[in-house]
Amino acid sequence: MMNIRKTAVLASLIVLCVAMAAGQPTVLRVDINQIKGKVNPAMWGLFFEDINMGADGGLYAELIKNRSFEFFRPLMGWNVLGKAQEGALLVLNRQEQQAANPRFLRVNTERSGAEGMGLSNEGFRGMGIKEGLRYDFSVMYRQRKPGITLKLELVDSAGRVIGQGRWQPRGDGQGWQKQSASFQATATHPRARLNIWFEGAGEIDLDMISLFPADTWKGRPGGLRADMVQLLADMQPGFLRFPGGCIVEGFDLSQRFQWKKTVGPIEDRQQLINRWNFEFRHRPTPDYFQTFGLGFFEYFQLAEDIGAEPLPILNCGMACQFNSAEVVPMDRLDEYVQDALDLIAFANGDISSPWGKLRAEMGHPEPFNLKMLGVGNENWGPQYIERLAVFQKAINEQYPEIAIVASSGTDPSGERFDYLNSELRKMQVDIIDEHYYRHPDWFFENASRYDDYDRNGPKIFAGEYAAQSVRIASPDNKNNWLTALAEAAFLTGVERNADVVTLASYAPLFGHIDGWQWTPDLIWVDNLQAYGTPNYYVQKLYATNKGTHIVPVTAGGKPLTGHQGLYASAVVDGNAGEVIVKVVNRNGDSETVVLDVPGIRRMPATATCIVLQSDNLDRMNTIDQPLAVSPKTETVEINGKRPQFELKPYSFTVIKIKR
Ligand code: AHR
Repeated sequence: MMNIRKTAVLASLIVLCVAMAAGQPTVLRVDINQIKGKVNPAMWGLFFEDINMGADGGLYAELIKNRSFEFFRPLMGWNVLGKAQEGALLVLNRQEQQAANPRFLRVNTERSGAEGMGLSNEGFRGMGIKEGLRYDFSVMYRQRKPGITLKLELVDSAGRVIGQGRWQPRGDGQGWQKQSASFQATATHPRARLNIWFEGAGEIDLDMISLFPADTWKGRPGGLRADMVQLLADMQPGFLRFPGGCIVEGFDLSQRFQWKKTVGPIEDRQQLINRWNFEFRHRPTPDYFQTFGLGFFEYFQLAEDIGAEPLPILNCGMACQFNSAEVVPMDRLDEYVQDALDLIAFANGDISSPWGKLRAEMGHPEPFNLKMLGVGNENWGPQYIERLAVFQKAINEQYPEIAIVASSGTDPSGERFDYLNSELRKMQVDIIDEHYYRHPDWFFENASRYDDYDRNGPKIFAGEYAAQSVRIASPDNKNNWLTALAEAAFLTGVERNADVVTLASYAPLFGHIDGWQWTPDLIWVDNLQAYGTPNYYVQKLYATNKGTHIVPVTAGGKPLTGHQGLYASAVVDGNAGEVIVKVVNRNGDSETVVLDVPGIRRMPATATCIVLQSDNLDRMNTIDQPLAVSPKTETVEINGKRPQFELKPYSFTVIKIKR
């Protein structure tokens, strides 16, 4: 048995992997020459849905809430400043000319008193404002009686001005036009608001009142929050699933997600109520709407930016079966199928085609290289199979190269699942989307779920997984270390079976600490900061140590799926020339393991150990302690052929050895 000594450089760090000389260590045999299958390079990905203020109020960096007055209550999010005379502020509707964005605001200051008149926008649970940063204000306007200019003031919660600007309309043209004005913030504040004072006498129409920080992802005007995207990019995700989730289905079919209404100029994108606005009585969010500033073009662009394959999920002609359960009659399904075909054209089509042309006009003449398309989210029953079959036929005929992802419902077992699983296999769909929102025990117990799955049938997409510390949809669920450890254990089974489970993503992705409806979530944010949960670091460790081929890791000839509290999987990385072993120790005590890697003739002098661990299963990361449970990496020296490692209590360890 060989001792592992910590390198001198890291001697002061907490011991993560140390040699053990006593006890009866478990021998982990890693057969690096018995390749069991390839790992899909895109295997570990992301599930995005506009839930928990994931898009509006989150990833989409717009700071103004209800910028085009399309919420049910047109002035929700806005407060009148000063004294507005009767008729001085009017919400008008031009449905006939602009069906997608009918409302606008008419401001008349001719009778304003000395104290002036203005509007204040509260943002999404306030606005996160950063000292020294530039803020870009813009508005669509139409002059009626020139004379009004806007004084812009960012104010903190005590009313102190922390940024000032002025906006003056150019010319006195009658048609709608857009104009911007920028200014800098003088202080940082997490819950600021924007005051807009109307100065001078006149009348003006306003719409699409907008404020963006300059520090968006890649500095794109009207773009995404850079810190949130960075956390995604850091995971090196293989795919990005969007836009959901139940949001795809809608409460009823009129509220379903329609991608065509989310592309083109933002002022022409038709706002829709967010289905999470009223889903949970215990977490109502009456101000939750979808502006679609983050629309399908931006989703594709985001996927490309972070090196992920796009994976859109489309409505299959069925509304949420927990809500209205409306289905479109079969003889009216064509429109839905056409949406799917047109989406493929939008993503991949030549720029001479109408949809390819739109993509080019939006700034991306090159195709987005779409390879997979989901039909339906959590849909079930024969009504789903009947509709899916129509999509499958049409897509296969026109785009045989596109892999179809089909739903196996809401649960990973039970009558609904069994029915769908058997029907989808008969239909030979390409990929079956399985969802598991279960107690941590389920995750520990299901580490062998895929060991006996059919290797010749459809591939599996672990499309939405998350251990629930209490139960699904409970507001008390926590992203604690226990849930992450359970997922790490389960994912050893996913990795061991990466020849059949080719895609995996945690769900949901984002939660805003002041605006969430669903917990747990992979990443939590407030208006200024974002942090990864322990669950984030688990998936990140899989994604960033995915290897290229699966190899067996066994103890006593069997895979480690919980025996003596240990779970393991192994891959080799043909490019990096590495053996990567992932081991979960579920026990509250340290466990010693010996690595036996017969395929390696001579062990290298060092190994890398990455350890995610806490002695406290309730431990969580927070805004103040974002790295409480986060990976620690160290290089360790090894001597001889069968190195021995101590796995810390309640730990997930990634051991990397150069071949
Ligand atoms: O991730 C939250 C929700 O859980 C998703 O919208 C849905 O697909 C699942 O039920």
